[in-house]
Amino acid sequence: MKIYLSMDSAAKALGSEEVAAALSAALEARGETAEVIRVGSRGMVWLEPLLEIDRGQGREAWGPVAPEDVAGILAGEVESLGPTEEIPFFARQTRLTFARCGVIDPLSLPDYEAHGGLAGLRRAATMTGEAIIDEMKTSGLRGRGGAGFPTGIKWDTVRMAHADQKYIVCNADEGDSGTFADRMIMEGDPFCLIEGMAIAGLCTGATKGYVYTRSEYPDAVAVMREAIIRARAAGVLGDDVLGSGRAFDMEVRVGAGAYVCGEETSLLNSLEGKRGVVRAKPPLPALEGFLGKPTVVNNVISLATVPVIFEKGAQHFADFGLGRSRGTIPVQIAGNVKHGGLFETAFGMSLGDLVEEIGGGTASGRPVKAVQIGGPLGAYFGREKFDTPFGYEEFDGQGGLIGHAGVVVFDDSADMLGMARFAMEFCAVESCGKCTPCRIGAVRGVETLDRIKQGDGAAVELLTDLCETMKDGSLCALGGFTPYPVMSALEAFPEEFGMAKEAAE
Ligand code: NAI
Ligand code: SF4
Repeated sequence: MKIYLSMDSAAKALGSEEVAAALSAALEARGETAEVIRVGSRGMVWLEPLLEIDRGQGREAWGPVAPEDVAGILAGEVESLGPTEEIPFFARQTRLTFARCGVIDPLSLPDYEAHGGLAGLRRAATMTGEAIIDEMKTSGLRGRGGAGFPTGIKWDTVRMAHADQKYIVCNADEGDSGTFADRMIMEGDPFCLIEGMAIAGLCTGATKGYVYTRSEYPDAVAVMREAIIRARAAGVLGDDVLGSGRAFDMEVRVGAGAYVCGEETSLLNSLEGKRGVVRAKPPLPALEGFLGKPTVVNNVISLATVPVIFEKGAQHFADFGLGRSRGTIPVQIAGNVKHGGLFETAFGMSLGDLVEEIGGGTASGRPVKAVQIGGPLGAYFGREKFDTPFGYEEFDGQGGLIGHAGVVVFDDSADMLGMARFAMEFCAVESCGKCTPCRIGAVRGVETLDRIKQGDGAAVELLTDLCETMKDGSLCALGGFTPYPVMSALEAFPEEFGMAKEAAE
């Protein structure tokens, strides 16, 4: 008998360590021996701690499990949820990037290889940098951090640059509200990120990589660091990556968790030991990045998706998706929602289906009022936009952005003027202070929203002007995107800003 229990930090927060202790005690009391395997999360957060038992016919699931349930489960007295992979939330997914997460022991390289791991790197190690770029371009992979820039083109810029040293930097400073995909991969399938970074290194000629993450992710840091040690010992990292004759090694660096350090140039400054202030672009990091050298800066999910592209072939990946949004996207459903968690799906599913069918509507049982997509800088979509399919261009066409694919659900009790004020306040607190529209504009934005709340209707025009200035005049996405939540809340719910609907349109 094999028993699987998550050691993902969301599961731990929900009591998986207490369940683990109860499990050892119950097995001992029954005089039973079982292999207990600690895994990452399957992503069904409302079912955590999720316990799975395989008695030789596949994994069956129980969840959420309390320590006092364990003895009954082992005795066969508690009904299960059925086979894990037949739970509707799981069964409807297309798992490419997250195929192993929750399945394997995150720190077992043999387990990783037995589930398709390293096949991509072995293949890439036989290819030229140019051939790797062709494969990346065919896959259509676009940056999963939020901007959706074609990954193959970014890598090619670094590959073509002439320099004595190049770098691969993984942006793991996951700061968007309601997002946890980066953390889940680092805790549940760290070799996948290592493999993706090694392929990027072989392609571009970069021999050194950094994973830049935040101090709020101590479990991810510990798992990544241990995985790097094991990968190095197995020759996956080092002077001769898997016998290719090419070198690549990497390490983890931990920042203090400022939101702006997720912006790539600010991140690079922080990585260099400087204050996390945004740098003007150009020069692009691809040409002058870490320590002034050509640097690939990619999000965790972009890099962790690379191995499956090389394992199964670029066309297999490109065959999923919608329009220019190819492959799959790990949507993170959070907030006031019944079934919160990670749902990896091909681009194209409608927002309404994701929230109502997959997420099951609100946890409070009240009607959904709005969802915010793409973090604290993302637009609020009311129900009238629920037909929008998940795709970069499709969301852009509706005045929104996918960002890092976090979907935060609000019920009809949400105060939208309060949410708009929060966006401005967040920007004021997190601003790096380099440019005026953001540094001063966000403070004035809070004041203007307070005037509107007190019934000053004339301040709405001022708010609109201010948002236009911030959008067009800010140096980076923090100041430039704060108007999205503010203006979308105003446009979708004008009555909460003391306006008639037609006036807002
Ligand atoms: P951007 O559009 O300026 O750049 C996107 C990426 O493409 C950058 O890495 C840039 O260096 C690169 N690039 C652009 N042109 C290039 C070229 N010709 N050759 C090579 N590389 C090139 O967007 P930015 O400011 O990097 O990111 C903004 C996005 O970040 C937003 O869409 C937002 O959704 C997202 N975001 C994500 C957060 C998270 O927690 N993941 C937090 C905050 C924002
Ligand atoms: Fe800094 Fe804000 Fe300007 Fe970005 S927009 S550079 S965070 S002051």
